Order: sequence, then C-alpha cells, then structure tokens
Amino acid sequence: ATVFLNDTFLPAEQAKVSVYDRGFLFGDGVYEVIPVYGRQPFRLKAHLSRLQNSLDGIHLSNPFDDAHWTQLITQLIEHNEGENQAVYLQVTRGVAPREHVFPQGVKPTVFMMSNPLNAVPSLYKTQGIKAITVDDIRWQRCDIKAIALLPNTMLRQQAHEQGAGEAILIRDGVMTEGSASNSYAVFDGVIYTAAKDNTVLSGITRDFVLELAAMTGIPVREESVTADRLTQADEIWISSSTRELLPVTTLDDKPVGQGLPGPIWQTVNELYQRHKL
Ligand code: PDD
Repeated sequence: ATVFLNDTFLPAEQAKVSVYDRGFLFGDGVYEVIPVYGRQPFRLKAHLSRLQNSLDGIHLSNPFDDAHWTQLITQLIEHNEGENQAVYLQVTRGVAPREHVFPQGVKPTVFMMSNPLNAVPSLYKTQGIKAITVDDIRWQRCDIKAIALLPNTMLRQQAHEQGAGEAILIRDGVMTEGSASNSYAVFDGVIYTAAKDNTVLSGITRDFVLELAAMTGIPVREESVTADRLTQADEIWISSSTRELLPVTTLDDKPVGQGLPGPIWQTVNELYQRHKL
C-alpha cells in the first residue's frame, strides 16, 4: 500500500517515524477516519472541519489548508485500489526530546494511509449486533479526536471478550457513546442521542443520521438516556464512518425490544444506503 508521510507518498514498508515522535511517546496527536465510496471521500469538508477543531483543542496548528488536504487525500485514494476505502490520517506534535511541555518550532508529523472499507457483514444488519454497557473511563475531552485511545481499546476489548461488537459507555448514569461509535436509543418512535458536548465525539455519521431522520420526519431528541431507561429501549443503534449504522439487538445479554433490528432502524438505514453515494 502507498501511504503519505510528512511530504511524500511512499510504500508503507518504507515509511519510518522517529522513536522521539510525540505521537509515539505521549499519544500527542489527533486523527480522522474518512470513508470513501466509489472512490469519492464522503463528507470530506465536515471531516476537515472536525480535524481543525481537534487541532485547536490540543493547541497544534494545522499543517495544511483544506485545499491542500483535499488534494493530498485525493492523491492517496488514487494511489490505492478499491472503490470503497477508509482514509486514516493523523497529525502529531512532531519529533522532539521527551519533555511534557510542548516543543517550539517543531514540524508536526503528518501520516495518512488508506485501507479497504469492508462492507458491513450482512448478518449484522439482519440480526443486529451484541453490545455491553461499561463504565466510561475516558477523559473529559472526548470531543477531541485524539490518537490516545487506550481506554477505548480496553473497553472494546472487554466487549470482544464477551462476544460483543461494541461497548456502550455510561458516564454519570447516562449513555455517552460507543467505544468507537456514536449511539442512539429509540423510545416510542423518537430517536435519542447524546447532545454534542465534551463527553462525546461529534460524529460525522451522527450528523448524517440525524439529517436522514429529519428528512423522513422521525423526531430526534439530543438528550441523554439513563442506563436504567436504556434497558427499556425499543431500539438501540451505533454509528461510525467504518460501520455505518448498525442495530444493537442484544444489550448485556438481554434482547433489545423484540431482539431484532427495529422498524425505525430499517427506515433510516434504507435512506443511509441510498444517500451515502
Ligand atoms: N471512530 N465516537 C468515537 C469515540 C469514535 O471513535 C468514532 C469513530 C465515532 C463516530 O464518528 P464518525 O461518525 O465521524 O466516524 C464516535 C473511528 C471510525 C475510528 O476510531 O476508527
């Protein structure tokens, strides 16, 4: 595969980053994952705008303007095979002697790769997936798409070990999001999802899902749902750039609603598949 590092495209095997990179030593960087359908990046502008917010959040200046990012991402897609891809990009604070205080005058390290965007297994859509609820042990700035993902990976691993595809995170008694997704609950035909604040990532897919719901007149409330109430939900969903919109049909080993993908999910997912191109 061809990747991008700092200022050039090169084979992945030849791309090397210093052991002094702050991404490696401190997890000091931010990232984006951009889905590509039919070789076209989906909602690129929104991803670049969220990247800017993440960079602002960690006080790192953006190495490129949006036009340049767009050009580089277009080239990366051209260098890689496959109609559908997942572009991963990250910016770290660069290479400097290990010292917590931010270094001055250091060039950020920019890395990009593109992986195949695998179709979501059809079983996940016909049967739904399992999820578990876990304590949200992450930090207070979940709105920043930080590369430091140790809590997310630990919680996702915990789900995996229990045969579940996602961990739904509970902070202060309410659902925030998934370990790598936004989450939703449906009650009496109304979609609930956490409001955009510091406890969740502002998902680009989440924005898309809420637009689709608005298109069909399904009401949405950006309000928190308590863990207690979640056990009574008619439907639970997760969304992300790589998994699209998936129904959770088993939560903590109990069926969600009828234990099958629900009608509101069916409606929104149909629209999703039609409008994602
Ligand atoms: N993760 N919340 C968290 C914690 C996430 O990691 C993600 C996505 C989302 C959904 O955001 P979006 O709809 O913009 O993909 C929400 C990516 C896909 C990842 O880490 O691989």
